[in-house]
Formats: sequence, C-alpha cells, structure tokens
Amino acid sequence: MSANPQTQRVLSGMRPTGQLHLGNYHGALRNWVDLQYKYTCFFFVADWHALTTGYEDTSKLPEHVHQMVIDWLAAGLNPGVATIFVQSQVPEHAELHLLLSMITPLGWLERVPTYKDMQANLTEKDLTTYGFLGYPLLQSADILLYRPTWIPVGEDQVAHVEITREVARRFNHIYGREPEFEAKAERAVAELGGRNAALYRQLRRKYQEAGDAEALEKARALVTGNTRITVADRERLLGYLEGQSVTILPEPQALLTRTPKLPGLDGRKMSKSYGNTIGMREDPDAVTRKLKAMQTDPARVRRTDPGEPEKCPVYDLHKVYSDDATLAWSAQGCRSAGIGCLECKKPLIDKVVEEIGGMRRRAQEFEENPELGRNILAEGFEKARETARETLDDVRRAMHLRAD
Ligand code: TRP
Ligand code: SF4
Repeated sequence: MSANPQTQRVLSGMRPTGQLHLGNYHGALRNWVDLQYKYTCFFFVADWHALTTGYEDTSKLPEHVHQMVIDWLAAGLNPGVATIFVQSQVPEHAELHLLLSMITPLGWLERVPTYKDMQANLTEKDLTTYGFLGYPLLQSADILLYRPTWIPVGEDQVAHVEITREVARRFNHIYGREPEFEAKAERAVAELGGRNAALYRQLRRKYQEAGDAEALEKARALVTGNTRITVADRERLLGYLEGQSVTILPEPQALLTRTPKLPGLDGRKMSKSYGNTIGMREDPDAVTRKLKAMQTDPARVRRTDPGEPEKCPVYDLHKVYSDDATLAWSAQGCRSAGIGCLECKKPLIDKVVEEIGGMRRRAQEFEENPELGRNILAEGFEKARETARETLDDVRRAMHLRAD
C-alpha cells in the first residue's frame, strides 16, 4: 500500500506578469498540466506577490491576471479537475500570513537568498519594504493554507519551500500541544478499527524505533485514507506518528521540475526582462520571423563554415521540440556545413508554430468571452476557500483565537 496520489494535494502559484511565453510554458505550465491528472491540484495567481516588487502602478494588474489565466487554459489546465483561483480573492491567505508573521524570526526572512539577491540586482525597484521582506512568508501562508504534499517549483523557489517547512514545524511545535494528547491519540487509534489499528501501531513502531520512512508514509496513507474518523482525530494520528504534538500544518515538499533549457531569441535564458521571448499565443507569422532571425552558433558566419550545435541556441530549442532523427540530421548537417541555418530552423519553426497554433485555438473562446474566465475563477475561489477555511479554523483553534 502506498499513499494514493489522487488524494495528495499539489499547489503552485505564479505572479501575474501578463502574457506568458514559451519559457513559462516549458518551465512550469506543461508540468502543471501533467500533474492535474495525478493529484488534487490547486493553481493560483499570486497577485499580492506582484505588489511586493511593484506597488506603484497597479493599473495593469487586472489585465495581467486575466491574460495569464487564459494562457493557463490555453496550455491545457482543466478547471474541471484543477482548482484555479486568484490569491487576493481568498482573504485567508492574508490572515494566515499575519498569524505566521508573529512566530517567524526576522533572521529567517533576511537570510532567504532571494532577498539580498533581488535587492542587489533590481536596483531600479524599491525593495526596502516590509512587504518585500515578507514575500517568502506570504508564500508560506499560500502553501500551508492548502496542506499540500507537493509544491512544483523551479530551482529558484526551493528556498521558499524550505522556509515554509521551517515555519510549519515551528507552528506545530508551539501550537500543536494538546492536553492529554496521548490518551486522545490512543482513542483515535482505536477508532481506526481492529485491523487498521493494529497496522497503525505496527507502522508507528517501525518508524519510531527504526526510522523506517516507508512505514511512516504507509501509516500516513492509512490515516488520510480513512474517511470515518474526524478531522481532529486525523491530525492527532498524524502527529502521534512522529511525536507528541498535533500536526496542524503538515510540511510540504518541493517537487523540482526538471526543465529543459529554453533559450530566448538572443541565446540567453528566455525571459520577459531580456525582451527575447516568444509568446505562447503570439501571431505565427511574427514567430516565424523571430525564429528566422534567431541567434545561431556565432562561429558559423558563412554558409560554408561548419558549426557546433552545442554552441547554438537554436539547437537547444531543437532538443525541446524535435525527434531524435531531426536532431541527428541537424547536428550532422551543422558540423559538416551540409545544411544552412535557415534549413536547420525549418522543422523547428514548423513545430513551434504548430504548438502555438494549438494554444491559440484553445484560447480563442476565452478571448472572445471574458465571462468564461471569470466564471472559472469564481468557481475556483469557492473551492479554494472551502479548503482554506478548514485550515484556518484549525489554526485559530490551536492559537485560542475565535474559530468559526
Ligand atoms: N514566488 C513564486 C514565483 O515567483 C510564486 C508563488 C507565490 C508561489 N506563492 C506561491 C509558488 C506558492 C508556489 C507556491 O514563482
Ligand atoms: Fe545552429 Fe542549426 Fe545553424 Fe548549426 S545549422 S548553427 S545548429 S541553426
């Protein structure tokens, strides 16, 4: 028996930067689309996070949110299976952020690598605000509110998941104590019923005595898969596995997205700030023109000069889009000067244009009918809020604050 992925939650978010590009698609979205059929997924627009680095001109925010959600749908996110919503519509994010801020040492936030890096690199922005320092903690609240198992993120966000785990641990340590915990936990074990109770005890012993991580996983699955016990008992049983406290906010894990290198038109990483992007829904003729002009191996000046595909950003794109035969043809033709760069780009252009064509087709109904997007977000909001409220209720109760 292993933890059933369908019942495990996945959560991720993106700041609304306006229309997305192929780097966003291959770097994150494509992975989200796969995950939505394997896990219970929550994907949200982190519009408050956008304010932490740009609070002055917020006029384009609604349009950026709208366009990004269309891109998500165009990429294949399915609101029938995944919950898609906007952070600022769910006030529980703000409340949990506030409560967590009370227990988070300043030093933890100051030490997050992105904090000093971004302050050093984005000198044109005012990053000396309280909000910017709290960026990772707001992200922790985003995450912990949904008690997910996995957070699909890129390398740059791992430190934020790490601090989230630390904050969760600290919260559980401070507020997860309960009078007569052990007696209540034992009663909850009995509630599992004869065979399951025995199995739970056996797995718990294996974990506590031998550190058997698989036993812990199995025991957790046993508990989370049981629909007859109360939420409070479930939390006790989960906490009892590891120690003497209730786990109110389980620690999530980063799910590192292995992403292909996706170069932009100038050979640097594709990024909006470099102006080297291809939009997910860009006009196919414009895309063709851009790709025809794309940077190749700089050593290949004339058609008769042999080139080195490993030094060519076009070849990196081929690796994402082309099959093995095309890759071999391109590499061989390049090194022998058997083909020209335009010839080499042709099958790639076809593939990119085809991919973008699919996105444009899927986006069309949402572009023509903004109401559809709004409805999807309204429905996502309802679902997200229900889950968020459950968590916040537990959090408030644990902190002896008003619970609904
Ligand atoms: N910080 C993330 C980014 O810049 C966006 C984000 C906000 C996020 N909250 C999140 C990602 C929660 C994952 C989970 O990409
Ligand atoms: Fe790049 Fe292809 Fe030109 Fe070689 S032939 S330099 S791989 S575009």
